[in-house]
Amino acid sequence: MPILKIARMGHPVLQRRAEEVADPTAPGVARLVSDMIATMHDANGRGLAAPQVHVPLRVVVFITPDDPEHEGVTAIVNPVLELLTEERVDGWEGCLSVPGLQGVVPRAPKVRYTGVTPDGKEIDRTVEGFHAVVVQHEFDHLDGILYPQRMTDLNKLIFESESRWFAPQEA
Ligand code: NI
Repeated sequence: MPILKIARMGHPVLQRRAEEVADPTAPGVARLVSDMIATMHDANGRGLAAPQVHVPLRVVVFITPDDPEHEGVTAIVNPVLELLTEERVDGWEGCLSVPGLQGVVPRAPKVRYTGVTPDGKEIDRTVEGFHAVVVQHEFDHLDGILYPQRMTDLNKLIFESESRWFAPQEA
């Protein structure tokens, strides 16, 4: 399980729409997912999308340790997201492709998402809280969107070392 190199903001692979995976159960997808999970853990991240490791495919891995219904790692291929509220809630986010920074991003507090695992199992989940935030952040990567593009107040795009000037981090 090699650790993969993570693309950083400015690399074109992070700016374009990733392609659908034709066969989510192909061995190459399982290998990619395995390497992405190792890379996410190595970088101490909570989620990683394939474009972040220079692979322009619709594949995401993430962890949701604060959701007792879905502990452990989720790997999802060709995900589809539906925002279930008009409401947006501000929370702090960071990104392995934007190292050293964090920002306040408005996100829907409740979402539904579907997709398929590399084992071919269907996923259909309605989730809230951090789980809802992480999927919105990760799925955005598949459409070439980084969290600063979702921000409404760039005064709250800051270096992590300056976070003491702001309210405690939520996400
Ligand atoms: Ni990210």
